[in-house]
Amino acid sequence: MAKQILITGGAGFIGSNLSIKLVGKGYTVTVLDNLLEQVHGGGPNPVLPAALTGKVKFIKADVRDKAAMLEAVKQADIIVHMAAETGTGQSMYETEKYIDVNCRGTAVLLDILLNEKHNVRKVVLSSSRAVYGEGKYQNKQGRVIYPNSRSEEQLSIKNFEPVGDNNETISALPTDEESRINPFSIYAATKYNQEQYISIACRAAGIPFVIFRYQNVYGPGQSLKNPYTGILSIFSTQIKNGNAINIFEDGLESRDFVFVDDVVNATTMGIENDAANNEIFNVGTGKAITVLTVANTLARLYQVKPEIKITGQYRIGDIRHNYADITKIERTLGFKPLIDFDAGISKFTAWVSGQQIESDNYEKSIAELKNKGLLK
Ligand SMILES: NC(=O)c1ccc[n+]([C@@H]2O[C@H](COP(=O)([O-])OP(=O)(O)OC[C@H]3O[C@@H](n4cnc5c(N)ncnc54)[C@H](O)[C@@H]3O)[C@@H](O)[C@H]2O)c1
Repeated sequence: MAKQILITGGAGFIGSNLSIKLVGKGYTVTVLDNLLEQVHGGGPNPVLPAALTGKVKFIKADVRDKAAMLEAVKQADIIVHMAAETGTGQSMYETEKYIDVNCRGTAVLLDILLNEKHNVRKVVLSSSRAVYGEGKYQNKQGRVIYPNSRSEEQLSIKNFEPVGDNNETISALPTDEESRINPFSIYAATKYNQEQYISIACRAAGIPFVIFRYQNVYGPGQSLKNPYTGILSIFSTQIKNGNAINIFEDGLESRDFVFVDDVVNATTMGIENDAANNEIFNVGTGKAITVLTVANTLARLYQVKPEIKITGQYRIGDIRHNYADITKIERTLGFKPLIDFDAGISKFTAWVSGQQIESDNYEKSIAELKNKGLLK
């Protein structure tokens, strides 16, 4: 059995939960992570999350640092590549950084795999449902439609639902892995680039790979400092600071919220099961939950009554709905999401309530979007 696992970005939300699970299963885990301040805080001296201290070998380095990556890769049987810049909205103005970390960072890893001696037997990539953009829909006749990004003209008159040809009414379907790839943001494009680079290079090198397209992951360990990503943590930080919650559009936009333990289970199956090799899998629950439901449920669980403002504003590049068709991962790997939204959000809020309250920097992130003309 492969025993040495390298997780790039392993100090982050999903990576730290995965590390703990794999250590518990007897793997030796090395985490390579630069402890990005936006995610970890800590100013010039960020520290490894306490849950990992003493459990993993830690290399504080950037994925673009070839010497550090070489040292890490040489010890690994399996690599899980998670290090990434992850803010969809932020990627629309910090474009060079997103492409540099997500694309060049992956290229540095692949250069090592293609040119250096190593024992790597599998590469697992954390990709995103963002690669599908709006995903799969159908019209009234049942014809499958992959809508384009909603027009500003449409959004400005608060017609938020995507439309088909000639503005026909369409409804969202679960998005399967064969659905059209249609990134709407730079972040999404970098995740699809990562998929392509890894599948092309690993095939050439004869190294099996597995690509997971995670839906919206939530749960304990999610950064409460990062105002650029993670709607449950952003709303929680707003509530804990006594601030109002601002909801874009009409609040009826929806996502497939998948609990981190389920994502960790799916990823572990990809590591351990050869049936996953050279395949792409959605990871989600297959259920859509509206953003308004998320806000109301958080308020109920925190036992507060925050002002919930439905602003009618919209972000350029945002999608309206997306939820996963998980048939492939169920059939191939036997994956089933075990924690439904009600149970998961209760675990999440219980965890948040035991954490230090972080300052609410959300307004700053929103002001950035507004200044760049990306929030209308
Ligand atoms: N959380 C989600 O809902 C979600 C959904 C789809 C895909 N993903 C993907 O899963 C992966 C993990 O996401 P997460 O939610 O745990 O995010 P996260 O921000 O909590 O973790 C990412 C980690 O990568 C590290 N990192 C960032 N840039 C780095 C660099 N240049 N060098 C080394 N380390 C760097 C950060 O310090 C952080 O610890 C990412 O690749 C993300 O694109 C996440």
